Amino acid sequence: MRKEINLFDHTNEIIKEMQEGALLTTKCDGKVNTMAIGWGMLGIQWSKPVFVAMIRESRYTKELLEKTGEFTVNVPYGEYDKKILGYCGSKSGRDTDKIKDMGLTLVDGVAVDVPAIKELPLTLECKVIYKQKQDSAAISEADKSDFYSDEDYHIYYFAEVVGAYIVE
Ligand SMILES: Cc1cc2nc3c(=O)[nH]c(=O)nc-3n(C[C@H](O)[C@H](O)[C@H](O)COP(=O)(O)O)c2cc1C
Repeated sequence: MRKEINLFDHTNEIIKEMQEGALLTTKCDGKVNTMAIGWGMLGIQWSKPVFVAMIRESRYTKELLEKTGEFTVNVPYGEYDKKILGYCGSKSGRDTDKIKDMGLTLVDGVAVDVPAIKELPLTLECKVIYKQKQDSAAISEADKSDFYSDEDYHIYYFAEVVGAYIVE
């Protein structure tokens, strides 16, 4: 069961929870992978509701996302096992099946071919409409030394939110 929600009625909760972490899930060639995200933005572009994810170039997720252009975001809503975010934020889908390892429950997407994750039930279905790699020359010196000493820059994926619901 899914309870449809109005995205902008839940913006505060989504952004507050995101500071602790959420899951960003991709699916490619039948394989599902999820990673923790702590950075994200919600807003409007081209009159569309948009979620912006920032994914480092080194992530396996980036590789999958480049192929499909679709993802889901799953935000905690109520109690959940905190180990999920720690695990999915430190292991790579290149090395292990995080969905299986954590026993996560997949629920088919509606407008995207990527599932939602029931354990973190507030779900956004997202389709990439614009992407841009960070321009290293445009990052302030302080932030560059704090975040990019390894030159592993983020790619900003602007994605239309084509569905928003809570998995029940
Ligand atoms: C709480 C938390 C938030 C994170 N946020 C991000 C993020 O916004 N962008 C990013 O590229 N990596 C972020 N990470 C790191 C990735 O989740 C981590 O590198 C993960 O293992 C990548 O998985 P993958 O290789 O299967 O894509 C975060 C990790 C944690 C624990």
